[in-house]
Amino acid sequence: MALFQKKNEPAQVEADLTRLPRHIAIIMDGNGRWARKRGLPRTAGHAAGAETFRAIATYCKDIGIDYLTVYAFSTENWKRPSAEVSSIMGLLKKYLLEAIGQMERDRVKMEFFGDLSPLSPELRELCERTREISRHYEGCQVNVCLNYGGRDELIRAAQAYAQDCIEGRADPNHLSPERFGGYLFSKGVPDPDLVIRPSGELRLSNFLLWQSAYAEFYFTDVLWPDFSKEELHRAIAAYQGRNRRFGGV
Ligand code: IPE
Ligand code: IPE
Ligand code: MG
Repeated sequence: MALFQKKNEPAQVEADLTRLPRHIAIIMDGNGRWARKRGLPRTAGHAAGAETFRAIATYCKDIGIDYLTVYAFSTENWKRPSAEVSSIMGLLKKYLLEAIGQMERDRVKMEFFGDLSPLSPELRELCERTREISRHYEGCQVNVCLNYGGRDELIRAAQAYAQDCIEGRADPNHLSPERFGGYLFSKGVPDPDLVIRPSGELRLSNFLLWQSAYAEFYFTDVLWPDFSKEELHRAIAAYQGRNRRFGGV
């Protein structure tokens, strides 16, 4: 990979594939703009974005990333026109059906973060089926955030925790970050080391608010459908050039 230099980042050379982040999280943004630039409907951007997801997830597995978490649909994305929401749901269905057909070959463990109850019964069943089939796979776990919002996740966790306190299963004097983390969708998954947001937006948009407390961030102007292995290498190389201190010296 060529040398690159980005504002605020030191010059980086190729990513060292022997020192990878254990958990990468990606906000898959920019599908609509990608389509608009080509005079295509936004839905074509979502279709292209789904292909990029397939390629990047496979690549992460191949290079040995343990966890990949992707933001596919937020709790706020229901505000979009219903035709766009339906088309995204249709693409998810198509994606999951294809994934189920290839699961034995790919052996990627699939999980879903988010409240799946507002999804169609068919889509919910597909999520459940992919989760079930891949349950025992080891190597790479892909968490798809669907109807996911960081605040929603925290409120649900607080409610479940309060209920456990009321029913005597938990004691508020003994609440710790580790215990509270056990109430989140991400239960059992280590925090992301690297959060990537393509599309030029410099915000989290309600993604992994709790989990990204000490994540390293990588922003790029590349739109998600154009995101490539090379771009992932750039993000990993940038991450490898950072000094993570976790509050220490
Ligand atoms: C991300 O792309 C996909 C979803 C949010 C579902 P966008 O659809 O947000 O694309 P832009 O930001 O409009 O370009
Ligand atoms: C974040 O992107 C959600 C996903 C990529 C699924 P948005 O496009 O919804 O975020 P905003 O609206 O630009 O903050
Ligand atoms: Mg967007």
